[in-house]
Amino acid sequence: MKKNYLVLFLIIGLFSSNNIKSQTVYKDVAPIFYSRCTPCHHENQHGPPMMTYSETVANSALMLSDLQTGHMPPWPPDTLYTRFNHEHIISTTEKNAIINWLNQGALPGDTTLAPAPPTYPQYQLNGTPDLILKTGTFTSNAAANDAYDCFSIPTNLTQNRILRAFEIVPGNAPIVHHVVIDVDTLGTGTSDLSGTCYNNSGSFTLGFYVPGSAPTVYPGQAPLKAGVVIKAGSNFRLQIHYPRGTAGQIDSTQIRLYFYPIGTTGVRPIYTTVPLQNWTMNIAANTTATYTANYVLPATVSLFGTGPHSHKVCTAIKEFAFLGTDTIPLIRINKWDFNWQGFYSYPKMLKIPSGYKILTSHFFDNTVNNLNNPFSPPQNITAGTSTTNEMLFDGVQYLIYQPGDDTINVASLLNNDPLLTVGVNELPLTEVQSYIYPNPANDLLNIYISKKSDYTISIYNITGQLIYKTLTTDDFTTIDTKNISEGLYIIQITDSKSNEKITKKIVLSH
Ligand code: HEC
Repeated sequence: MKKNYLVLFLIIGLFSSNNIKSQTVYKDVAPIFYSRCTPCHHENQHGPPMMTYSETVANSALMLSDLQTGHMPPWPPDTLYTRFNHEHIISTTEKNAIINWLNQGALPGDTTLAPAPPTYPQYQLNGTPDLILKTGTFTSNAAANDAYDCFSIPTNLTQNRILRAFEIVPGNAPIVHHVVIDVDTLGTGTSDLSGTCYNNSGSFTLGFYVPGSAPTVYPGQAPLKAGVVIKAGSNFRLQIHYPRGTAGQIDSTQIRLYFYPIGTTGVRPIYTTVPLQNWTMNIAANTTATYTANYVLPATVSLFGTGPHSHKVCTAIKEFAFLGTDTIPLIRINKWDFNWQGFYSYPKMLKIPSGYKILTSHFFDNTVNNLNNPFSPPQNITAGTSTTNEMLFDGVQYLIYQPGDDTINVASLLNNDPLLTVGVNELPLTEVQSYIYPNPANDLLNIYISKKSDYTISIYNITGQLIYKTLTTDDFTTIDTKNISEGLYIIQITDSKSNEKITKKIVLSH
């Protein structure tokens, strides 16, 4: 009898330890959904909500292929080429964890063990904007075709102001697929609500909004105060893309603008121009072609960001600066997608010396292999502003270089920017979402903290000895724990700004 019990225990023991190792249930992957997916997949966003087990599992049918093809999370720039602020990316470990979960039947397990889902405020920028411009109530006119409507909104500014930050807030996010934000310095443009306003025709493009876009904030504290000058009397022009089938639905999109107070000194202008253009495209049906444009910089600049632009026959873009054999990579997009364009800013500005040439090349696939080809069968495509024409129209944002610019940590300045955190009524660190996963961990430990700051992450063994320490300015950190021996550890995260600490136990098992 005794012996039988022993055998039974052994069997149960084997069975359950097997379970722990191989079976992934919802609570194991929930933190990954919360950090990598729900910023765009929550109530009233463009993507279907995935805040709970049932909402997530309802989207599982397409999830596997979306993850495997890189369709989700959508982040066109190649991170092996250059990195940007506010990236929507997922690590291989995280991706594999979700794929594992899906392959094992997307099991719920005990869903009450999943951490609480994040909460999303209506506005991402703190404080009160200096100016709110609204499109007014608009009924989508996108029936059988996608509609592009351009709203011209006067600022009524009576003097020049320097823009510090702005945020696009769609009234009806699920139907707003993108917004191109132009400034019309003369203030003479009018709205074009025909649904075929392909060319926003402002004086310059300030940025793009796509679902999940972070608000645009220019560094506003030492060592870098910068912004874009908005001239008195300017209009803002918002070109909004409403996808087909949304006709009859109502939207009212707003842009919330924050300026430097009048009289602020030491603000460096950020110049926004489109120096890279090519209007010679002529791509015969069933052919592929590469077109380029280049520009020689008249002065040494600190490149703040880049925003390449093309339409639907384009499938890849590469931009770099060079002189002789010296090359400075700017951006590479291996699978250009018209729906996911953006203006991307660098974690550290790139110094591009005077005399360097910026070269962009766009690859066009006007064959049936290009699933985004607007024509079936393919037709000849020429340059033009309609979405069935092609464009090569790459914008840049830069400052005139000053010594020391290349060492400024723009990412950290933005992470610590009071406009982007909860401000005076900041939640204590213990009350913001923080996820440390997986736990137990084997070779990699992921840490996500939903409050932007600089953090010191320390790992202590149970006798209190410091085993590992790192400083991060990112809300995501992955620690390689391969070389730390198995066992129980204490992980401590210290917010360098407020000195608050959180402490958690973790288990490493290799
Ligand atoms: C930057 C915003 C954003 C992020 C981040 C994001 N999604 Fe999406 N997702 C969308 C949008 C928008 C759609 C609606 C369809 C479209 O426009 O492509 C969508 C659609 C989907 C769909 C529906 C099927 C489809 O392809 O249309 C699935 C499944 C999906 N996303 C999974 C994920 C997963 C899993 C993650 C996290 C690993 C994720 N998404 C992260 C924006 C995002």
